[in-house]
Amino acid sequence: EKEGHDWFMRKEIFEQPRAVADALLGRRDATGRLMLDEMRLSDQELRDIDKIIIIAAGTSFYAGMVAKYAIEHWTRVPVEVELASEFRYRDPILDYSTLVVAISQSGETADTLQAIRHARGQRSKVLAICNTNGSTIPRESDAVIYTHAGPEIAVASTKGFVTQLVACYLLALYLAQVKGTRYGDEITQIVNQLEAVPAQLQQVLDDAPAIYELARQHTGARSILFLGRHAGYPVALEGALKLKELAYLHAEGFAAGELKHGPIALIEEGLPVLCVVPPQGRDQLHDKMLSGIQEVRARGAKAICLAEEGDERVAPYADHVVRLPRVPVLLQPLLAVVPLQLFACELATVLGHDVDQPRNLAKSVTVE
Ligand code: F6R
Repeated sequence: EKEGHDWFMRKEIFEQPRAVADALLGRRDATGRLMLDEMRLSDQELRDIDKIIIIAAGTSFYAGMVAKYAIEHWTRVPVEVELASEFRYRDPILDYSTLVVAISQSGETADTLQAIRHARGQRSKVLAICNTNGSTIPRESDAVIYTHAGPEIAVASTKGFVTQLVACYLLALYLAQVKGTRYGDEITQIVNQLEAVPAQLQQVLDDAPAIYELARQHTGARSILFLGRHAGYPVALEGALKLKELAYLHAEGFAAGELKHGPIALIEEGLPVLCVVPPQGRDQLHDKMLSGIQEVRARGAKAICLAEEGDERVAPYADHVVRLPRVPVLLQPLLAVVPLQLFACELATVLGHDVDQPRNLAKSVTVE
Protein backbone atom coordinates (compact mmCIF):
# COMPACT_ATOMS: atom_id res chain seq x y z
CA GLU A 1 0.00 0.00 0.00
CA LYS A 2 3.04 2.26 -0.12
CA GLU A 3 2.45 2.48 -3.85
CA GLY A 4 6.06 1.97 -4.81
CA HIS A 5 7.53 4.16 -2.07
CA ASP A 6 9.91 2.82 0.58
CA TRP A 7 8.07 4.59 3.41
CA PHE A 8 4.55 5.71 4.13
CA MET A 9 6.06 9.08 4.95
CA ARG A 10 7.48 9.46 1.46
CA LYS A 11 4.18 8.35 -0.06
CA GLU A 12 2.33 10.90 2.06
CA ILE A 13 4.76 13.68 1.11
CA PHE A 14 4.04 12.93 -2.54
CA GLU A 15 0.30 12.85 -1.89
CA GLN A 16 0.32 16.48 -0.83
CA PRO A 17 -0.84 17.99 -4.14
CA ARG A 18 -3.90 15.72 -4.03
CA ALA A 19 -4.42 16.27 -0.30
CA VAL A 20 -4.41 20.06 -0.69
CA ALA A 21 -6.80 19.82 -3.63
CA ASP A 22 -9.15 17.66 -1.55
CA ALA A 23 -8.92 20.04 1.41
CA LEU A 24 -10.10 22.82 -0.92
CA LEU A 25 -12.85 20.83 -2.59
CA GLY A 26 -16.41 22.09 -2.36
CA ARG A 27 -15.64 25.19 -0.33
CA ARG A 28 -17.42 27.67 -2.61
CA ASP A 29 -21.12 28.01 -3.35
CA ALA A 30 -22.59 28.82 -6.77
CA THR A 31 -21.98 32.55 -6.25
CA GLY A 32 -18.35 32.00 -5.31
CA ARG A 33 -18.78 32.69 -1.60
CA LEU A 34 -16.87 30.50 0.81
CA MET A 35 -18.83 27.90 2.71
CA LEU A 36 -17.67 25.60 5.47
CA ASP A 37 -20.31 22.92 5.76
CA GLU A 38 -19.49 21.73 9.28
CA MET A 39 -19.00 25.21 10.68
CA ARG A 40 -22.15 24.94 12.85
CA LEU A 41 -21.47 28.41 14.32
CA SER A 42 -23.86 31.08 13.12
CA ASP A 43 -22.68 34.25 11.43
CA GLN A 44 -23.82 36.16 14.49
CA GLU A 45 -21.79 33.91 16.80
CA LEU A 46 -18.75 34.43 14.60
CA ARG A 47 -19.27 38.19 14.48
CA ASP A 48 -19.35 38.27 18.29
CA ILE A 49 -15.90 36.71 18.57
CA ASP A 50 -13.31 39.20 19.75
CA LYS A 51 -10.41 36.87 20.46
CA ILE A 52 -9.14 33.57 19.12
CA ILE A 53 -6.91 31.14 20.98
CA ILE A 54 -5.36 28.34 18.96
CA ILE A 55 -4.25 25.27 20.86
CA ALA A 56 -2.31 22.33 19.49
CA ALA A 57 0.79 20.20 19.93
CA GLY A 58 3.90 19.54 17.84
CA THR A 59 3.54 20.01 14.11
CA SER A 60 -0.10 21.08 14.54
CA PHE A 61 1.11 23.86 16.82
CA TYR A 62 3.32 25.16 14.01
CA ALA A 63 0.30 25.19 11.70
CA GLY A 64 -1.37 27.29 14.40
CA MET A 65 1.53 29.74 14.37
CA VAL A 66 1.04 30.25 10.62
CA ALA A 67 -2.71 30.63 11.18
CA LYS A 68 -2.11 33.51 13.56
CA TYR A 69 -0.44 35.56 10.81
CA ALA A 70 -3.28 34.86 8.37
CA ILE A 71 -6.20 35.37 10.75
CA GLU A 72 -4.87 38.60 12.23
CA HIS A 73 -3.96 40.00 8.82
CA TRP A 74 -7.26 39.20 7.13
CA THR A 75 -9.69 39.64 10.02
CA ARG A 76 -8.00 41.93 12.57
CA VAL A 77 -9.14 39.59 15.35
CA PRO A 78 -6.35 39.08 17.89
CA VAL A 79 -5.01 35.53 17.99
CA GLU A 80 -2.97 33.73 20.61
CA VAL A 81 -1.31 30.42 19.85
CA GLU A 82 -0.53 28.14 22.71
CA LEU A 83 0.78 24.65 23.30
CA ALA A 84 -2.13 22.54 24.50
CA SER A 85 -0.06 21.13 27.33
CA GLU A 86 0.59 24.62 28.71
CA PHE A 87 -2.78 26.20 28.08
CA ARG A 88 -4.85 24.83 30.94
CA TYR A 89 -2.25 25.37 33.60
CA ARG A 90 -1.98 29.12 33.27
CA ASP A 91 -5.62 29.91 34.07
CA PRO A 92 -6.34 31.39 30.60
CA ILE A 93 -8.85 34.22 30.21
CA LEU A 94 -11.82 32.77 28.36
CA ASP A 95 -15.48 33.61 27.86
CA TYR A 96 -18.29 33.26 25.33
CA SER A 97 -16.67 35.77 22.97
CA THR A 98 -13.45 33.74 22.73
CA LEU A 99 -13.18 31.18 19.95
CA VAL A 100 -10.82 28.35 20.78
CA VAL A 101 -9.44 26.59 17.71
CA ALA A 102 -8.00 23.14 18.39
CA ILE A 103 -5.78 21.76 15.63
CA SER A 104 -5.19 18.01 15.70
CA GLN A 105 -4.47 15.60 12.88
CA SER A 106 -5.49 12.53 14.91
CA GLY A 107 -8.26 14.14 16.93
CA GLU A 108 -7.13 12.08 19.91
CA THR A 109 -4.21 14.04 21.41
CA ALA A 110 -4.85 14.06 25.15
CA ASP A 111 -3.26 17.45 25.82
CA THR A 112 -5.45 19.08 23.17
CA LEU A 113 -8.57 17.24 24.32
CA GLN A 114 -8.10 18.34 27.92
CA ALA A 115 -7.55 21.89 26.76
CA ILE A 116 -10.83 22.03 24.81
CA ARG A 117 -12.73 20.51 27.73
CA HIS A 118 -11.38 23.28 29.89
CA ALA A 119 -12.33 25.93 27.31
CA ARG A 120 -15.89 24.65 26.96
CA GLY A 121 -16.18 24.60 30.72
CA GLN A 122 -15.49 28.34 30.56
CA ARG A 123 -18.29 28.84 27.96
CA SER A 124 -15.94 29.39 25.02
CA LYS A 125 -16.87 28.04 21.61
CA VAL A 126 -14.49 25.41 20.29
CA LEU A 127 -13.75 24.76 16.64
CA ALA A 128 -11.68 21.70 15.72
CA ILE A 129 -9.44 21.45 12.68
CA CYS A 130 -9.00 17.74 12.32
CA ASN A 131 -8.14 15.02 9.84
CA THR A 132 -9.89 12.09 11.47
CA ASN A 133 -13.64 11.85 11.01
CA GLY A 134 -15.54 11.05 14.16
CA SER A 135 -12.52 11.23 16.46
CA THR A 136 -12.85 12.56 20.00
CA ILE A 137 -11.75 16.18 19.54
CA PRO A 138 -14.26 17.06 16.78
CA ARG A 139 -16.97 15.14 18.63
CA GLU A 140 -16.42 17.31 21.68
CA SER A 141 -16.22 20.57 19.71
CA ASP A 142 -18.94 23.02 18.68
CA ALA A 143 -17.74 23.06 15.08
CA VAL A 144 -15.21 21.35 12.87
CA ILE A 145 -13.29 21.84 9.67
CA TYR A 146 -12.08 18.50 8.36
CA THR A 147 -8.78 18.59 6.51
CA HIS A 148 -9.53 15.65 4.15
CA ALA A 149 -5.87 14.62 3.80
CA GLY A 150 -6.76 10.92 3.93
CA PRO A 151 -5.27 8.59 6.55
CA GLU A 152 -1.80 9.58 7.69
CA ILE A 153 0.09 6.42 8.59
CA ALA A 154 3.67 7.63 9.11
CA VAL A 155 4.25 8.95 12.62
CA ALA A 156 5.72 12.19 11.30
CA SER A 157 3.02 14.51 10.04
CA THR A 158 3.35 15.82 6.46
CA LYS A 159 0.13 15.95 4.45
CA GLY A 160 -1.60 16.44 7.79
CA PHE A 161 0.33 19.68 8.25
CA VAL A 162 -0.21 21.18 4.79
CA THR A 163 -3.94 20.47 4.91
CA GLN A 164 -4.14 21.99 8.39
CA LEU A 165 -2.65 25.11 6.84
CA VAL A 166 -5.31 25.08 4.13
CA ALA A 167 -8.06 24.71 6.75
CA CYS A 168 -6.58 27.61 8.74
CA TYR A 169 -6.52 29.85 5.64
CA LEU A 170 -10.13 28.89 4.87
CA LEU A 171 -11.17 29.68 8.44
CA ALA A 172 -9.41 33.04 8.28
CA LEU A 173 -11.03 33.91 4.96
CA TYR A 174 -14.44 32.72 6.13
CA LEU A 175 -14.19 34.93 9.21
CA ALA A 176 -13.14 37.83 6.99
CA GLN A 177 -16.19 37.19 4.79
CA VAL A 178 -18.59 37.05 7.75
CA LYS A 179 -17.08 40.02 9.54
CA GLY A 180 -16.71 42.01 6.34
CA THR A 181 -13.05 42.82 6.97
CA ARG A 182 -12.11 41.88 3.39
CA TYR A 183 -13.97 42.39 0.13
CA GLY A 184 -15.34 39.40 -1.70
CA ASP A 185 -13.03 40.02 -4.66
CA GLU A 186 -9.98 39.83 -2.48
CA ILE A 187 -11.18 36.64 -0.81
CA THR A 188 -11.86 35.11 -4.22
CA GLN A 189 -8.38 36.06 -5.37
CA ILE A 190 -6.76 34.37 -2.37
CA VAL A 191 -8.88 31.23 -2.82
CA ASN A 192 -7.77 31.19 -6.46
CA GLN A 193 -4.16 31.39 -5.30
CA LEU A 194 -4.81 28.47 -2.94
CA GLU A 195 -6.30 26.49 -5.80
CA ALA A 196 -3.07 26.95 -7.75
CA VAL A 197 -1.05 25.42 -4.92
CA PRO A 198 -1.48 21.71 -5.80
CA ALA A 199 0.25 22.25 -9.16
CA GLN A 200 2.96 24.30 -7.44
CA LEU A 201 3.47 21.54 -4.87
CA GLN A 202 3.93 19.13 -7.73
CA GLN A 203 6.65 21.38 -9.12
CA VAL A 204 8.45 21.30 -5.76
CA LEU A 205 8.14 17.51 -5.63
CA ASP A 206 9.52 17.19 -9.15
CA ASP A 207 12.76 18.63 -7.75
CA ALA A 208 12.98 15.95 -5.03
CA PRO A 209 16.16 14.36 -6.46
CA ALA A 210 18.10 17.58 -5.87
CA ILE A 211 16.91 17.70 -2.25
CA TYR A 212 17.86 14.05 -1.74
CA GLU A 213 21.34 14.84 -3.04
CA LEU A 214 21.55 17.72 -0.58
CA ALA A 215 20.43 15.46 2.27
CA ARG A 216 23.08 12.88 1.38
CA GLN A 217 25.72 15.58 1.60
CA HIS A 218 24.70 16.24 5.20
CA THR A 219 24.59 12.79 6.76
CA GLY A 220 27.72 13.64 8.74
CA ALA A 221 26.31 16.83 10.28
CA ARG A 222 26.18 16.96 14.08
CA SER A 223 23.67 19.79 14.10
CA ILE A 224 21.57 21.67 11.56
CA LEU A 225 19.89 25.02 12.15
CA PHE A 226 16.82 26.46 10.47
CA LEU A 227 16.03 30.15 10.08
CA GLY A 228 12.83 31.88 9.07
CA ARG A 229 10.89 35.06 9.55
CA HIS A 230 7.17 35.85 9.63
CA ALA A 231 5.25 32.87 8.20
CA GLY A 232 8.62 31.26 7.44
CA TYR A 233 9.47 31.08 11.12
CA PRO A 234 7.06 28.23 11.95
CA VAL A 235 8.34 26.49 8.80
CA ALA A 236 11.86 26.65 10.25
CA LEU A 237 10.59 25.13 13.50
CA GLU A 238 8.81 22.39 11.59
CA GLY A 239 11.91 21.61 9.47
CA ALA A 240 13.93 21.22 12.66
CA LEU A 241 11.28 19.03 14.30
CA LYS A 242 11.21 16.69 11.31
CA LEU A 243 14.96 16.26 11.48
CA LYS A 244 14.94 15.57 15.23
CA GLU A 245 12.12 13.06 14.94
CA LEU A 246 13.41 11.13 11.96
CA ALA A 247 17.17 11.50 11.87
CA TYR A 248 17.72 11.86 15.66
CA LEU A 249 19.91 14.78 14.82
CA HIS A 250 20.24 17.96 16.80
CA ALA A 251 18.26 20.61 14.95
CA GLU A 252 16.78 23.92 15.98
CA GLY A 253 14.68 26.52 14.30
CA PHE A 254 15.03 30.22 15.01
CA ALA A 255 13.35 33.45 14.08
CA ALA A 256 16.09 35.06 12.00
CA GLY A 257 15.76 38.34 13.88
CA GLU A 258 16.56 36.58 17.16
CA LEU A 259 19.96 35.36 15.98
CA LYS A 260 21.85 38.31 17.33
CA HIS A 261 20.16 37.87 20.71
CA GLY A 262 21.95 34.62 21.38
CA PRO A 263 21.82 31.78 18.87
CA ILE A 264 24.47 33.30 16.62
CA ALA A 265 26.97 32.09 19.22
CA LEU A 266 26.25 28.56 17.97
CA ILE A 267 27.54 29.30 14.48
CA GLU A 268 30.83 27.67 13.64
CA GLU A 269 32.73 26.72 10.53
CA GLY A 270 30.74 24.45 8.24
CA LEU A 271 27.49 24.44 10.25
CA PRO A 272 24.58 23.91 7.84
CA VAL A 273 21.85 26.53 8.16
CA LEU A 274 18.63 26.13 6.19
CA CYS A 275 17.05 29.49 5.51
CA VAL A 276 13.46 30.09 4.46
CA VAL A 277 13.71 33.32 2.44
CA PRO A 278 10.43 35.29 2.27
CA PRO A 279 9.09 36.26 -1.16
CA GLN A 280 10.56 39.44 -2.59
CA GLY A 281 7.20 41.24 -2.61
CA ARG A 282 7.60 41.88 1.09
CA ASP A 283 10.73 43.96 0.74
CA GLN A 284 11.63 44.61 4.32
CA LEU A 285 11.29 41.01 5.35
CA HIS A 286 13.33 39.88 2.39
CA ASP A 287 16.14 42.35 3.06
CA LYS A 288 16.29 41.52 6.73
CA MET A 289 16.43 37.81 6.00
CA LEU A 290 19.32 38.32 3.58
CA SER A 291 21.27 40.28 6.16
CA GLY A 292 20.64 37.51 8.71
CA ILE A 293 22.04 35.00 6.24
CA GLN A 294 25.04 37.22 5.66
CA GLU A 295 25.70 37.30 9.41
CA VAL A 296 25.78 33.52 9.80
CA ARG A 297 27.77 33.02 6.66
CA ALA A 298 30.39 35.55 7.76
CA ARG A 299 30.94 33.23 10.73
CA GLY A 300 31.50 30.15 8.60
CA ALA A 301 27.99 28.70 8.32
CA LYS A 302 26.85 27.07 5.10
CA ALA A 303 23.64 28.71 3.95
CA ILE A 304 21.10 26.56 2.14
CA CYS A 305 18.37 28.94 1.04
CA LEU A 306 14.79 28.21 0.02
CA ALA A 307 13.87 31.15 -2.20
CA GLU A 308 11.25 31.91 -4.79
CA GLU A 309 11.84 31.59 -8.50
CA GLY A 310 13.15 34.80 -9.96
CA ASP A 311 14.71 35.94 -6.69
CA GLU A 312 18.08 36.84 -8.13
CA ARG A 313 19.25 38.67 -5.05
CA VAL A 314 19.63 35.59 -2.92
CA ALA A 315 22.32 33.72 -4.89
CA PRO A 316 25.31 35.78 -3.70
CA TYR A 317 24.32 35.04 -0.10
CA ALA A 318 23.77 31.33 -0.50
CA ASP A 319 25.93 28.23 -0.77
CA HIS A 320 22.95 26.45 -2.27
CA VAL A 321 19.55 27.66 -3.48
CA VAL A 322 16.38 25.57 -3.56
CA ARG A 323 13.72 27.23 -5.71
CA LEU A 324 10.07 27.58 -4.72
CA PRO A 325 7.21 28.65 -7.00
CA ARG A 326 5.96 32.18 -6.41
CA VAL A 327 3.18 32.69 -3.86
CA PRO A 328 2.21 35.45 -1.44
CA VAL A 329 4.15 35.43 1.82
CA LEU A 330 1.24 34.09 3.87
CA LEU A 331 0.90 31.03 1.63
CA GLN A 332 4.61 30.30 1.34
CA PRO A 333 4.63 27.75 4.21
CA LEU A 334 2.55 25.39 2.04
CA LEU A 335 5.43 25.10 -0.40
CA ALA A 336 8.48 25.82 1.76
CA VAL A 337 7.84 22.96 4.16
CA VAL A 338 8.07 20.33 1.42
CA PRO A 339 11.82 20.43 0.72
CA LEU A 340 12.37 20.25 4.49
CA GLN A 341 10.18 17.13 4.73
CA LEU A 342 12.06 15.53 1.83
CA PHE A 343 15.39 16.50 3.37
CA ALA A 344 14.59 14.90 6.75
CA CYS A 345 13.06 11.78 5.18
CA GLU A 346 16.06 11.17 2.95
CA LEU A 347 18.67 11.94 5.58
CA ALA A 348 17.03 9.53 8.03
CA THR A 349 16.75 6.87 5.33
CA VAL A 350 20.45 7.11 4.50
CA LEU A 351 21.28 6.88 8.21
CA GLY A 352 19.32 3.63 8.30
CA HIS A 353 16.49 4.72 10.58
CA ASP A 354 12.88 3.56 10.49
CA VAL A 355 11.29 6.67 9.06
CA ASP A 356 7.69 5.55 9.58
CA GLN A 357 8.15 4.48 13.19
CA PRO A 358 10.81 6.68 14.78
CA ARG A 359 12.04 5.54 18.16
CA ASN A 360 10.11 6.68 21.25
CA LEU A 361 7.24 8.21 19.27
CA ALA A 362 3.57 7.24 18.81
CA LYS A 363 1.16 8.42 16.15
CA SER A 364 -1.43 9.64 18.58
CA VAL A 365 -0.39 10.69 22.02
CA THR A 366 -3.34 9.73 24.18
CA VAL A 367 -1.70 10.42 27.52
CA GLU A 368 -1.00 13.84 28.97
C1 F6R B 1 5.25 15.62 14.26
C2 F6R B 1 4.11 14.98 14.86
C3 F6R B 1 3.63 15.42 16.20
C4 F6R B 1 2.15 15.75 16.16
C5 F6R B 1 1.60 16.08 17.54
C6 F6R B 1 0.15 16.49 17.50
O1 F6R B 1 5.59 15.05 13.05
O2 F6R B 1 3.50 14.14 14.26
O3 F6R B 1 4.36 16.52 16.68
O4 F6R B 1 1.97 16.81 15.28
O5 F6R B 1 1.75 14.97 18.39
O6 F6R B 1 -0.66 15.47 16.99
P1 F6R B 1 -2.12 15.74 16.51
O7 F6R B 1 -2.08 16.71 15.39
O8 F6R B 1 -2.65 14.41 16.10
O9 F6R B 1 -2.88 16.31 17.69
